Amino acid sequence: MTKHGTVYISIASTVALLVCCQTADKTPYTSAMQRDKPDWSDGLAAYQKTWPDKFGIGRHADKSFIAKWDIDVRPDGKGLPDGEGSAKNGAVIYRQKCVSCHGANGYEGPEDKLVTDSTGRNTIGNYWPYATTIFDYVRRSMPFNAPGSLTDQEVYDITAYLLYLNGIIKKEYKITATTLPQIEMPAKKRYILDDRRGGPEVR
Ligand code: HEC
Repeated sequence: MTKHGTVYISIASTVALLVCCQTADKTPYTSAMQRDKPDWSDGLAAYQKTWPDKFGIGRHADKSFIAKWDIDVRPDGKGLPDGEGSAKNGAVIYRQKCVSCHGANGYEGPEDKLVTDSTGRNTIGNYWPYATTIFDYVRRSMPFNAPGSLTDQEVYDITAYLLYLNGIIKKEYKITATTLPQIEMPAKKRYILDDRRGGPEVR
């Protein structure tokens, strides 16, 4: 850097600093902070008495609002909506909405894969103990770039397709709220029920 260059830079940065400080001084934020500073001189309880009855934060959680969040599906199938899915339909949706990240066969993409291959990596097929988790997981979080965008029908179809790709069901098998929890996943035997209670009975 030439001497000239250094001079230019230091002038430029001084100007930038001045501009920056000027702007900072003028921001209403600083004065608002000072103006709204709580007056606790008579103690916190006295200050709290000046609070309004309601702060007007948040919104009323009515039934339809709660329903959007209350979407967990349990291993026994509790929480599954009505519907029926097939691997045939699921294949079409998979090609449109999943293949870009998970690959044509479900082997590609993120660390944990969708379909069991010869590498022995964790997949739905060799690691997930409950079939209902596929429905729950896909409905709430996939596609990764548009979670929650799939209809229940699409999730049923995709769940069937992923089970089929893993060799767990036949292509014609219909996945419903009744049949999905009945499917015994190959990995179920890899898990034990954790019934520890913190005493000497801890395994
Ligand atoms: C934009 C990329 C992208 C798309 C599209 C996408 N996924 Fe994923 N998927 C991911 C990523 C990243 C993860 C890992 C997320 C994590 O571990 O938190 C993942 C994880 C998963 C898992 C869990 C795998 C495991 O063993 O833990 C399933 C199941 C899954 N995706 C299904 C789908 C399905 C079905 C679709 C299509 C409807 C889909 N994904 C579309 C990126 C994507």
